[in-house]
This record gives sequence, C-alpha cells and structure tokens, in this order.
Amino acid sequence: MDVIQQKAILPPGPKPLPVLGNNYSFVKDPLEFLETLHKTYGPLATMYMSDTPSVVLFEPKHIHYVLTENPRNFTSAEFARGLQEFTGHGLFNLDGDTHRQQRRLVQPAFHKKRVESYADTMSQYTLEMLDSWETGKEIALDQELQQLTMRVVAKCLFNIDLGLRNSKLGQAFTDILENQPKLLETLLRLKIDLPFTDYGKRQRGKRVIDKVINHLIAQRRLEGNDEGDFLSMLLAATEDDVALTDTQIRDHIMTFVAAGHETSSNTLVWAFYLLAQNMNEYEKLYLELQSQLQGQPPTLANLPMMPYTDWVISETLRLYPPAYLIGRRAREAFTLDEYTLPAKTFVLISKWILHRRPDLWEAADTFQPERWQPENAKNIVPWSYIPFGAGPRMCIGMPFAQLEMRLLLATILQRFKFRIVPGFTMQTDPLITLRPKNGLRVIIEPA
Ligand code: HEM
Repeated sequence: MDVIQQKAILPPGPKPLPVLGNNYSFVKDPLEFLETLHKTYGPLATMYMSDTPSVVLFEPKHIHYVLTENPRNFTSAEFARGLQEFTGHGLFNLDGDTHRQQRRLVQPAFHKKRVESYADTMSQYTLEMLDSWETGKEIALDQELQQLTMRVVAKCLFNIDLGLRNSKLGQAFTDILENQPKLLETLLRLKIDLPFTDYGKRQRGKRVIDKVINHLIAQRRLEGNDEGDFLSMLLAATEDDVALTDTQIRDHIMTFVAAGHETSSNTLVWAFYLLAQNMNEYEKLYLELQSQLQGQPPTLANLPMMPYTDWVISETLRLYPPAYLIGRRAREAFTLDEYTLPAKTFVLISKWILHRRPDLWEAADTFQPERWQPENAKNIVPWSYIPFGAGPRMCIGMPFAQLEMRLLLATILQRFKFRIVPGFTMQTDPLITLRPKNGLRVIIEPA
C-alpha cells in the first residue's frame, strides 16, 4: 500500500498538554528531556511541538535515512526562522532547488586551497591575542575566543580587521549575539525597535553591519579585484551566466558569520575545559606540540603530523556537539521500522544522545581522544557520529572550522595552559548551539 494512504502509526512518547504539547518540558531543559525520552522510549519517540507530532531520532540507521538516503523528503528552513532576521535567504533559510542552486554557487568559496590560504591569518591573530595575556591573570576564556574567532571570520569573509577588541563593527556583531530573543519575545513575536529592547539592540547591530557590507560590495564591484576573501569568491560566482545579487551575497556572508564563529569558539572552550580536567590527555597533547613544533607557531604544513590535536577536537565534538539538534519537516509521509509518520511531521535528530549512547560508545561519557586513533576508530558504528551533519546539508564550513580549531588550539597551548578558577562550575546552555552557560573563567599559566 502507498505510504501516503496508510494510517499514521507514531512511536510512543510522553503525553502532550493541550495546545502546548510537550513544549514546556522541552524548553525547560532540552538535554534532560532528550535523555528521558531516550531512556523511556528507546530508539525513537514522539513528542508534540504544540499540536504537531515530532519524532525524535536516536538511532544511526534512522538518522542516515533522513539526512542522506531520502533528504529530498525533508525541509529545514523552518527551523532557522529565528535566524532569518539576520541571515535573510542564506543557506539555512532555503530549501529544495533554490537551496541546491545557492549551495553550488557558494561552494567554491570553501575549496581546500582557498580555505588553507586563511591559515596565516588564523595563527597571526591568535598570537596577537596571546601577546595581550599575562600569566597569573584571570580571564573569561570564552569571551577571548569569541572575539578571536569573530576577528578571524571577519578578515576571511570580507578582509576587514576588527582589531583585538572594541571595534565598531565588532560591537555590532556583539549587539546581535548577546541580545538573542528570549522566550517572551519568541512566543509573543515581539518586534519593538527601541534602544533598550533585545530586538532594538539587534537591529542597531544589523544596521551597522548591513551598511559596511553593502558599501564593500559596491566598492568591490567597481574595482573588480580578488582580495583573497569569501566576498571576492561570491562576487565571482556564476552558474549558467547568472551571478549572485547583492542581497544574496549579503545574506550568505551573514549566514557564514552566524554559523561560523560561535560554533568554533565554543568547541574550543569545551576542549580547554576537558583538557583542564584530564591532565594525562593534556600532557600527551603538549608532548605532541613540543615534538612537532619545537617552539614555533604551527603552520599548515605541521598539521598532518599532529594527529593527537585532531583527536582532541574530534572527541570534544563528540561530547559537546555545538549543533546538538538537527531539525527537519517531512514533505510527505514516510516509514521508519514499524512506524508510519504523516506528512508535515517534524523530525529532530539528537546528537547529544547519539554521541553518548553507552551501547554505541565504550566509556561514553569519558574524554578519550585515543578512540579516534585509526585502529580504534574503525570500530566506531557508522552514523553514530555526525558533528557536522551529513548529506546535502552537511556543514559547508567544515574545512574552515577544522583548520581553525586545530591551529588555534595548538598555538594557544604551546604558550599557555589554564587552571579553572576555584569554585567555577561549567554548565551547558542549549540554545541554538550548545554553549557553556557561564562561559569559562580560567587563570592563565605558562605551558
Ligand atoms: C565546530 C564548528 C562547526 C560545527 C560543529 C558545525 C555544524 C554544522 C551542522 C551540524 C550543520 C548542518 C545542519 C543541518 O543539517 O541542518 C551545519 C550547517 C552549516 N554550517 Fe556549520 N558548523 C561549524 C562551523 C561552520 C563554519 C566555520 C561555517 C562557515 C564559515 C559554517 C557554515 C555552515 C552553513 C552555511 C551551514 C548550512 C549548510 C546548508 O544548509 O547547506 N559552519 N553546520
């Protein structure tokens, strides 16, 4: 029988409240909610987002089916609506043929050689940040790394140097990032553009950034130079003689800003946290840095000889995947095992659970970079690890992020190590990405 004509048979799940569904329990503590769902209902469960059934997937083969085997049956843009005021019609906010066409157009900006050309900027900016640090001082490591990755991204995207701190453009990005909509604004869809509202502060930041980017696009179109940045690549992109419009370029740039700095900086924060808790692993990493770099800052050429650095990052992304939840909506009905899910069902893919399932990972909650050593990694269950997603919407920025995280981690640890401020506790804050709730306060020590 055609799946469309079959009656819906949904996986089990918690009882929904009228109107609200399971929204409240989910929003209150998403990670705990997901853990309870998995423990209670097994490989897949149904929760209700208001009155829409949402199937939550924890099983590698189901995740594979949605992301890679049958991706055309699932849309994604709806889940990025919150970002749209900033990212317009960038990749997050597109589906179907338009998404595929725009992705093809921006893909060259992420080619290996182009991305590798940013390595020197990444190392140089990191060294400048380190020069401003003093041993014995207490710092908010999360803020330092956020400023650094923002500076790197701005330089690589549109060849502007935000400087170490306090630039007007940097402040505009901060205005947007630090004033994300709270629950009330989201629920009531409030858009009050006043200097003291979150929305107003975001709009203020957006106006400054739009002005700069629009000016840059106009100037570059006139001059026609390749400045070696993403913007030049986007200006040159064509398919069947059709080029990107100014608005499309702006939206792609904003999408890369939104996607491309907090994810990397938060991963690094978690990596430093994990290393501070696991001295054996820290020592192994430091030994690798000493033997491979002999006191010099790392370059592109050093990276292939630094596997442990890579494993530390892979293991951090397993335990703390920044994009901890992937959302889709089914265009048409589909089946998973004995269940029949109707058209319009939401699908939520939980990496937080997948990456820590004790039946898939040995010592699942333990930080063990060695599990990525090739002879161990070959035992990893396919589809149990997807920090960058998979299929046609897989993270386009992955090569950039991997290069940046390796270079920054190695450059920083070669000079300094960190002691977590006594009494400070690290907590997860699962907003759009998995942030460290109170940041990470550390005392700087010589390596
Ligand atoms: C640790 C760093 C990063 C992680 C873990 C990460 C993770 C992800 C994931 C899981 C997705 C797929 C979402 C989905 O399937 O719905 C994604 C998409 C995306 N990422 Fe990343 N990302 C990272 C860094 C970056 C960087 C540095 C950039 C750009 C410079 C970037 C740009 C994007 C874009 C544009 C998309 C949308 C792709 C599409 O829809 O076709 N990301 N990222």
